[in-house]
Amino acid sequence: MSKTFKRTLITSALPYANGPVHIGHLAGVYVPADIYARYLRIKGEEVLFIGGSDEHGVPIALKAKAEGVTPQEVVDRFHYIIKKSFEDFGITFDIYSRTSSKIHHKTASDFFRKLYDKGEFIEKSSEQYYDNEAQQFLADRYITGKCPHCGNERAYGDQCESCGTSLSPLDLIEPKSAVSGSVPVLKETKHWYLPLDKHESWLKEWILNQHKEWKSNVYGQCKSWLDMGLQPRAVSRDLDWGVPVPVAGAEGKVLYVWFDAPIGYISNTVEYAPNDWEKWWKNEDTKLVHFIGKDNIVFHCIVFPSMLKADGSYILPENVPANEFLNLEGDKISTSRNWAVWLHEYMEEFPGKQDVLRYVLTANAPETKDNDFTWKDFQARNNNELVAVFGNFVNRALTFTQKYFEGKVPACGELTEYDKQTLDDFRRIKGDLENYIEHYRFREALKEAMNMARIGNKYLADTEPWKVIKTDQQRAATIINISLQITANLAIVFEPFLPFTANKIMKMIGKEKFSWQEIGCISLLEVGHAIQTPELLFERIEDEVIEAQIQKLQDTKKANEIKNHQAAPLKPDVAFEDFAKLDIRVGKVMECTKVPKVDKLLQLKIDDGLGGRTIISGIAQYYQPENLTGKNVCFIANLAPRKIKGIESQGMILSAEDANGKLILIQPETDAALGSEVK
Ligand code: 2FM
Ligand code: ZN
Repeated sequence: MSKTFKRTLITSALPYANGPVHIGHLAGVYVPADIYARYLRIKGEEVLFIGGSDEHGVPIALKAKAEGVTPQEVVDRFHYIIKKSFEDFGITFDIYSRTSSKIHHKTASDFFRKLYDKGEFIEKSSEQYYDNEAQQFLADRYITGKCPHCGNERAYGDQCESCGTSLSPLDLIEPKSAVSGSVPVLKETKHWYLPLDKHESWLKEWILNQHKEWKSNVYGQCKSWLDMGLQPRAVSRDLDWGVPVPVAGAEGKVLYVWFDAPIGYISNTVEYAPNDWEKWWKNEDTKLVHFIGKDNIVFHCIVFPSMLKADGSYILPENVPANEFLNLEGDKISTSRNWAVWLHEYMEEFPGKQDVLRYVLTANAPETKDNDFTWKDFQARNNNELVAVFGNFVNRALTFTQKYFEGKVPACGELTEYDKQTLDDFRRIKGDLENYIEHYRFREALKEAMNMARIGNKYLADTEPWKVIKTDQQRAATIINISLQITANLAIVFEPFLPFTANKIMKMIGKEKFSWQEIGCISLLEVGHAIQTPELLFERIEDEVIEAQIQKLQDTKKANEIKNHQAAPLKPDVAFEDFAKLDIRVGKVMECTKVPKVDKLLQLKIDDGLGGRTIISGIAQYYQPENLTGKNVCFIANLAPRKIKGIESQGMILSAEDANGKLILIQPETDAALGSEVK
C-alpha cells in the first residue's frame, strides 16, 4: 500500500552561484520539478516548491580571489542572473533564495550545533596540505601533481582525469598548490565528521527495502555506496567563506558546502513560511521530493537523510527522482569550456520561445540515461511536432470559428460514432498521463499530452469542416464545437509542460482558469462564447537560424582548441657541436606535385642556389600543390637522402603546427638569398 500524503514539498538542487544556468540545468532538474509542481497545483493540491542559489564552497572563494573581488560580489552577480533565467522559463518556485542570507546562516549554524550537542559528530585531527604562501589549507581539487598510477603530471588531489583513478592528495607525487603554485606542506588540522558508518544499517533498510520503487539509476547508485560500506565524512573545512563552525576553537573553519547547501531547502522554507515551516519538514503527512542531477545522488539519498535522522525531528524524502546528464551536440556540457546553451543567451536569440525549449528538453530528457541535445533535433521537434501538430490544430479550430461562426462557439448537434470514438480516445489518455507524471516519467507524460493534440489534429483532417460547411452547416458546427472543446482541454493538459502556450490558448479562448479534473469535459466552452482573434502558437524555425547556432558552437570549439593547445615537452639538451652539424638552408619551391596514390605526400622541386633538389614532404593535407609554387621555405640540406615511395628525398622541409594541429611552413621573414644558411 502506498502512503497517502496531505501536501508535497518539492525541492530542486540549489545551483552554484558561480556561473549562469544552461539547458543541462533545465533539463535535469528544473523543468521536471516545475512540471510536477504545476501538475499538483492545477489538481488543487497543497504544494511548496523550493529553489535557491548555493553560494558557498571553494570554487566560489577561488573565483573571487582570481578576480580580486569578494566572494559575496561573485555570488551577487550570478544569483540574480540565475534567478532571472528561472523566471524567464516559467519555473514557479514559491521562493528562490540563497545560502549567503542571514536566515540560512542561522538555520545551518543551529542545525550543526544541535547535532554537535547531541554528540552526533566525531572530532578528528589529521594532516592536510597547507599553502604557506597563500596561507590557507588546500581543498583536494586545488592540489595538483603526478598521478602515481599513470604518471599524468596534471592529476588533481581527488582524481586523475587521465586514468580516472580516485586519489587522495597524499597520493600525488610532487604536489603543487593550484592557488599559488608553491609546494604545499602538511599541517595538522581538526575537523568534525558525520559518522555515516553508524547510519548504514537504517539507510540500508530504508532505501534498499522500503524504496525499491526509486528510479533504477538512483537505487543502483545508493546500493553500490551501501554495499561498499560507508565511512565518516568531514562536514567542516578550513576556509574563510561559508557558515562559520559554531563551536569554540573553530576559528577559520566553516561548514562544508555540502553540509550547508541542503539545509538551504529548510532555511528557504523558514524564510517563506516563518510561522508554519515545520508542517513542511516535521510532519509525516508531507511528501518530500528532491529533484536533482545524478552527481548529487549520494548527498540527497545518504548524507542529507543521515543529517535529518541525526537531528531526529525531520521527515525523510519520499523520492529522489534524479536525472542523468544532458550532453550538447555529442559533448559533455561544460561551463569552463563554454560548451553550453546558456539560458540568458537563448532568451535573447529566441525571444518568446521558452516553451519550445521546455518541450524539447522534456521530450528528450535524460531520465534513464545521458541524452544529447542537438540543434537539428530542436528544429525538427519544433517544426514537425509543435508547429505541424499542436499549433496547426489549435489554429485551424480557432480560425474556422472566426471565419464560419463569427468568432462564437457554435452549437453542437448530434454526435456521430466517429465523434464519440475521438472523445473516448482523448479521455482515455488522461489516466496514463497522470500515472506517468506521478512516477516522474515526464518524457512519456509529454508524449501522451502530444497524443491528445494529435487526436485533435487528426479529427479535423478526417472530418474536413471546410468542405462540410458548404453542404451541412449543422454538422460543421458540431465539428468546430468539438474541436474547440478539445482545444480548451489542451490548455489544461499542457499547463504543466508548456505554460506559456497554455496561457496563450486561455487568452484566445477567453477563459481564466480550469482545473485538471475538467479534462475530458466537452462543455468547457459554452455555446455563443466569444473567441478572441487567433495568433499562431508556434512558428517554423528556419535552417539559417539553426546553422547560426551550430556555427556558434563550432567557433567555441575552435577557440577552446587554441586556448588548450599544449606545447610538446622539451627534448633532452644537445651539445652545440651536434647542433652545428645540421645544415639548414633557405630555398624556393619551383614545382610541386602530389605523390600518386599517397594522401599525405607532396613532391617539391627546390631552388637551393646550388643547382636544385627534390624533397618529399608530408604536408599534402594542408597545402594545395599550386599554392606552394613560388614560396620560400627552410629545409635541412644535409639530411642523408632517403627513398620515399620510390622517389629520393634530398632533405626535409621545416614546418610547425598551428593551434589546431595544422602544419604550416617555416619561412624567412623577407626574401633571403636562395641557399643561404639558417643560423
Ligand atoms: O551540484 C550542484 O550544483 C550543487 N550546488 C547542488 C546543491 S543541492 C542542495 F544540496 F542544495
Ligand atoms: Zn592517472
